[in-house]
Amino acid sequence: MELAGSSAIVTGAASGLGAATARALSARGVHVTAFDLNEEGARAVAEELGGSYVAGDVTDPEHCQRAVDAAADPGPLRIAVNCAGTGWIGRVIDRQGEPHGLAPFEFIQRLNVIGTFNIMTKAASAIAKTEPLAETERGVIVNTASVAAFDGQIGQLAYSASKGAVVGMTLPAARDLSVVGIRVVTIAPGLFDTPLLGMLPEEQRHALGQSVLFPKRLGDPSRYGDLVVHIATNSYINAEVIRLDGGIRMPPK
Ligand SMILES: NC(=O)c1ccc[n+]([C@@H]2O[C@H](COP(=O)([O-])OP(=O)(O)OC[C@H]3O[C@@H](n4cnc5c(N)ncnc54)[C@H](O)[C@@H]3O)[C@@H](O)[C@H]2O)c1
Repeated sequence: MELAGSSAIVTGAASGLGAATARALSARGVHVTAFDLNEEGARAVAEELGGSYVAGDVTDPEHCQRAVDAAADPGPLRIAVNCAGTGWIGRVIDRQGEPHGLAPFEFIQRLNVIGTFNIMTKAASAIAKTEPLAETERGVIVNTASVAAFDGQIGQLAYSASKGAVVGMTLPAARDLSVVGIRVVTIAPGLFDTPLLGMLPEEQRHALGQSVLFPKRLGDPSRYGDLVVHIATNSYINAEVIRLDGGIRMPPK
């Protein structure tokens, strides 16, 4: 798919993988609308790239509609990338034998699953209204899972459930949207050097890097942006979950 002149919405674009994706798409001539809860961060990325931003919450359908409408304004919306999300640590029962709280479990499903659903559905509706390109292609939706969808570690009950749902939506969404020429692809990142992992002490981050098969380090977020650009341009990638992880297979803990 030809990218230049098209529009994209990137959620979670104020930080980490979303910001790297916004930069990579913008470098290919795409007008990027950065959508994030963090207004200051989204504005900074938009100013840096000459793009747009919308401050809002991916769990709120109205905020999502506003963001998709804004993204579809500067040019035909062809790309939606869901990077807003976060993690949670909690075991089925804690050390005292107390059950996992429902509230954090619900919070993570709401953010990681419903947030992805909101943007995917609303962006698909907008992309479906654009003029088709070669071979009737209209656009692509890229969702972010995690290797935790497959290799869930101790304490990742809520997070793995949410990322498993993102993986599970990939094939039916791609099938639903094939009639309107929209592809759906999910990236399952391993360990990336973003503010999400920046909260850990340097020693622990180094140790995590050493656990990667090769190269033995955390991933550079720009590699995630590179993959989004490749997925967007390579029209034969569809309905697939791609691990981007340096070959890591997460151990139980
Ligand atoms: N960093 C990693 O190693 C890694 C690995 C696997 C999967 N992931 C996934 O990649 C995605 C991005 O992670 P990251 O490392 O870039 O994290 P990050 O914390 O750097 O960025 C996440 C962004 O999402 C935004 N956000 C959070 N809640 C929001 C909401 N309700 N509405 C709108 N925006 C919201 C935050 O403000 C932030 O800018 C997440 O879904 C995460 O689970 C990250």
